[in-house]
Amino acid sequence: MARKPIIRIIGSLNIDFVTLTPRVPGPGETLEAKSMTVHAGGKGSNQAVACGKAAYTSPTEQDVQVEMLGAVGAGDPYYASLLKPTLTKSGVDTRYVEEVEGVQTGTATIIVDEGSNGENRILFVPGANHHVDDLDKIISTTTQDGVPDVIVMQGEIPKPTVLGLLSTFNSDRHKTCVVFNPAPMFDTIPLSALKDLAVLVVNETECLLLFKAVQELRDIETPSEENLTPHLDRLTSHLHDLASISIVVVTLGSRGLYYSVASKSTRQQARGLIPAAKVAKVVDTTGAGDTFVGYLSTALARHVSKQGSLEGFDVQEASLRANEAAAKCVQRSGAMESIPFGYEI
Ligand code: ATP
Ligand code: RIB
Repeated sequence: MARKPIIRIIGSLNIDFVTLTPRVPGPGETLEAKSMTVHAGGKGSNQAVACGKAAYTSPTEQDVQVEMLGAVGAGDPYYASLLKPTLTKSGVDTRYVEEVEGVQTGTATIIVDEGSNGENRILFVPGANHHVDDLDKIISTTTQDGVPDVIVMQGEIPKPTVLGLLSTFNSDRHKTCVVFNPAPMFDTIPLSALKDLAVLVVNETECLLLFKAVQELRDIETPSEENLTPHLDRLTSHLHDLASISIVVVTLGSRGLYYSVASKSTRQQARGLIPAAKVAKVVDTTGAGDTFVGYLSTALARHVSKQGSLEGFDVQEASLRANEAAAKCVQRSGAMESIPFGYEI
């Protein structure tokens, strides 16, 4: 029997403390909020859950193997009772999540502003996520049975780890398809770390910050965030040309997303805007970006395991589906629990 495609997510695991409020209080103000609930979160584990759930073609069949690499605080009751079971129920293998003594699991304090269409503000405390720092060990775990079809990374683990992994998995020795979602964005990123990256996913803010973070991109003229869309063809062309990134996706919140693909063999570019799916009511946007990344990564893993490379991957079709999944996510509260299963799309 052919083996299933494999995705390994190397990233953060957090406990999210989510407060729903009618508006955000001003400095020095105390305001009665509506509720505070505790959820499983973290960009890494949210994206792992999105990959795991996207891979369910029916309630009992999962066609992609999804594994999470990261760290939590040893003996954390929230990990045992909330995070781990949520990952497991979503089809994510947690055997490579290390429990580190003497540190807390990462946390995120999230304010969801009901008065602003469920928009969120997040305060992230890394905790154990900053102990994901043994590069050699991570590389050997990630490649123990050969390189996976897809590796997914974000910005909530230490920058040297992320840059080291990007260099390792974008280069010949362990070359594979890396999906990189630099959220939060690092202050600086060497262009060499992005060289030959398969997929970059950024939101509008991160897209503009990237042009400040990479020295070779700093002289390129960038617009204001409100006026970004008409400039995306030009900006993404620079990313294809200077960094040889194959696929760039810019998520545009309630306006959907923009994608740009540069084919290495035909040297042609394909690009387009996909409007967001219409939703009746936005409840909480937390995890929408993670849902998008997970769905796109799962589609990519299926393609790569069949075709042997990124060439020919239908980015438009995969993005349409990821866009549908992300729209479902914004209609429910929390991050992981609001991510739909593949068979629900
Ligand atoms: P977050 O940090 O809140 O998880 P993000 O900033 O990383 O999100 P966004 O660009 O806000 O990412 O949203 C990601 C995707 O979610 C969008 O590309 C779109 O597919 C979907 N989405 C977001 N907001 C809406 C909305 N109001 N209606 C429908 N779909 C939405
Ligand atoms: O992308 C959403 C996630 O970012 C939340 O679950 C929270 O943990 C934050 O870090």
